[in-house]
This record gives sequence, structure tokens and C-alpha cells, in this order.
Amino acid sequence: MKVTRETLLDPKKRVRPIDIRQAKGLDTFLEQMGGTSFQARNLARARELLDEALREEDCAIFLCLAGSLVSAGLGKVLTTLVENNMVDAIVSTGANIVDQDFFEGLGFSHYQGDPLVDDNLLRELHIDRIYDHFIDEDELKVCDETIAKILDALEPGAYSSRELIREMGRYLAEHGLRHDGLVETCYHKDVPIFCPAFADCSAGFGFVAHQHGRRLRGEAMVTLDGARDFLELTYLKMDGAKDSALLMIGGGVPKNFVQDTVVAAEILGREDIPMHKYAVQLTVADERDGALSGSTLREASSWGKVSTSKEQMVFGEATITLPLLVGALYYGNARKGRQARNFQKGFARDGSFDKARCQAALETR
Ligand SMILES: NC(=O)c1ccc[n+]([C@@H]2O[C@H](COP(=O)([O-])OP(=O)(O)OC[C@H]3O[C@@H](n4cnc5c(N)ncnc54)[C@H](O)[C@@H]3O)[C@@H](O)[C@H]2O)c1
Repeated sequence: MKVTRETLLDPKKRVRPIDIRQAKGLDTFLEQMGGTSFQARNLARARELLDEALREEDCAIFLCLAGSLVSAGLGKVLTTLVENNMVDAIVSTGANIVDQDFFEGLGFSHYQGDPLVDDNLLRELHIDRIYDHFIDEDELKVCDETIAKILDALEPGAYSSRELIREMGRYLAEHGLRHDGLVETCYHKDVPIFCPAFADCSAGFGFVAHQHGRRLRGEAMVTLDGARDFLELTYLKMDGAKDSALLMIGGGVPKNFVQDTVVAAEILGREDIPMHKYAVQLTVADERDGALSGSTLREASSWGKVSTSKEQMVFGEATITLPLLVGALYYGNARKGRQARNFQKGFARDGSFDKARCQAALETR
């Protein structure tokens, strides 16, 4: 369409001020934000894109997590997405999954604190700090030890992080003290979780203990197969659904890992696999340092990873933007009637993926 004075000053595009008296819930509140500017409008568009993805007949939704989301208090927002079939697979940093969510599943908590506290005192008291909240370091050690215990109980061999996190979910279902976390909810809902840098968290400490013990005794051990994580995730992208949507919180390794599946599919000879059709990222990082976390989704398109027509960056801190976004999706209609994908059931022990197995599991549910 030709750009003219009339198209640029379109009466339908007038800024519509937010009228909070008319915003009765998060759903309508985000609609109102869409009439404004800046990040409010971006967040409203992110919601519109995800609404569209939820309504698609055959579109897998991948949730990507970085930062300290669970410890900050966003765990239930994330499980709401899983419980209501709004995400089909998760790619995360280990911190969110192990140090924070699994940790809470063991019955432990995070505590509100003060960022100006004396950190030397915290060190003496065995208290760890994440900006403005605290963790009992002795409890974190129990978390490390529990991971080692889970690894000790497994058949020696190579595992993807997805398989190991499913075992963590099984452990919480049997021995956990809190049953509403992400790892356990995903275990029950057959939503796979991948942690591409799984050793870079409490799981790494568990691995070190397990492997060192086995080495000293000359016994076979459990190893982490990071390459298989990538292969499994690529299979999901190729055969899980016709299209895919990404909801990325923060950025970091999960953002790149999931985007790269399009390139990996091409390497496997599947040039028919489309770029990720929808992509939303909530982040505070900007693009000026050239790092991945702040790189725009338009930039990802130059690498052949994300389609440009349905992408939205939202610049804002996730403890504010994510509950607003998920709340609007939850109270809206788009998610209603969306089926679970059961992707976890599609994987065999050798890492191969067959969608028919997910379907069979759905029918027996
Ligand atoms: N975060 C922790 O407390 C913690 C603890 C143990 C291990 N680790 C490990 O460190 C590695 C890096 O982790 P990371 O994800 O914390 O850091 P990261 O620096 O990789 O974060 C990625 C990006 O996400 C953005 N981001 C993070 N939180 C955000 C928020 N609340 N709102 C908006 N944007 C946000 C950041 O600005 C950054 O650009 C991972 O392997 C992780 O397992 C982290």
C-alpha cells in the first residue's frame, strides 16, 4: 500500500487513552493498552499474536525461560500456561528449573529481602541473594544432593536433559512436598522441558557428586548428552506440528537454542520446515551490544530462524509484563478448547520422536 498523508494519519489509528474504569479485567486491560503507545502497545500486540497462535489448528507453542523467574514469584504464572494447554514444550536455563522450581517442589521457599543488605553477613549466615530475595544455602545443598540421588538411581548411560527433568518430575510426584510447580506439572501433563546448559545450575553440582563417586569406584555413570537435547528439540520442531510459536522470557541460551532448530532441520535435509511463525520476547536487554539476548526478532529472520510478519519484542521487566500477558491470555477466549499435545510421550529412549505416540497417549487419557 502506498504511504500517504492519509494512510499515516488514519482516523482508525488515533491513540485511544486508557480508561481504567472500562478495564474490568486483564483481558480488556490489555486490549486498552493496544490503543496506546510504547511498550503497552507492544505488550498488547504480543498478546494478539499469541491469541492467534493459540487458535491455530496445528501450531506448537514453545516457552523459553531465562533469568530468575520462579524464585521471583512467577512459578504459578508459568504453570498456568502448562495446566491450560497454552504451551507444549519448554526450553529453560537450569536455574529456573532446578535451583528454583525443583527446589520449591522439595518444600523450600524463597524469601523477600533487601538488595542493600550486608552481603558478608549473608555469607556468614549461609544465605544466598538474588537481587532482592534470599535463599537458604543449606536448603540449596539438599537440592544438589537430591539431584545426585536421582542420578545414582538411574541406569548408567547418556541422557538428554529432557529425560532427566522428567525423572525429577517423577521424584517430586512421589517424594515432593509441594505439587504445584513447573517440573511436576509438566511431568503430569507430558510437556517436555529442555535445559541446554543443564550443568550450569544445581543439577551440575548433583552431576559432579554422582560422576566423581562413580569414577572413584570405577563404576559406570550417568552422563548428559547435550547434543541429543538439540536433536530431540529439532525433531519436535520438524514433526511436532506444522507451525511453531515462541514465547521467550529474558533471552539467553534458551532463545538461541529453540531458534536454531530451523537451521538444524535444514541440515537434516528438511528444507520444507518453516521458520518459527510467531515469536514474542519479553526482555530488558537491548540490541546495542550485539549479544543474543537483546537481538531483535527481525534480526533472527536474517538468519532464517523467525518469520518477520508475526514477531514482537516487548521491553520491560518480566515480573510485570509476564503476569499481564498470561493473565490476558488466560481470561481471553483463544485458549479455550485447545488440546494438550503430550509431546513427552512422543520420545523413545533413543531420542527418536513419533507424533503418533502422542496421539495414542491423548486417546488413553
Ligand atoms: N539467575 C540465577 O539466579 C542463576 C542461578 C544459578 C545458575 N544460573 C545459570 O546462569 C546462566 C545464565 O542465567 P540467567 O538466565 O540468569 O542470565 P542471562 O544473563 O543469560 O539472562 C538472559 C537475558 O534475559 C534477560 N532477563 C533476565 N531476567 C529478566 C527479567 N526478569 N525481565 C526481563 N528480562 C530479563 C537479561 O537481561 C538477559 O539479557 C544459566 O545457565 C543459569 O542456569 C543462574
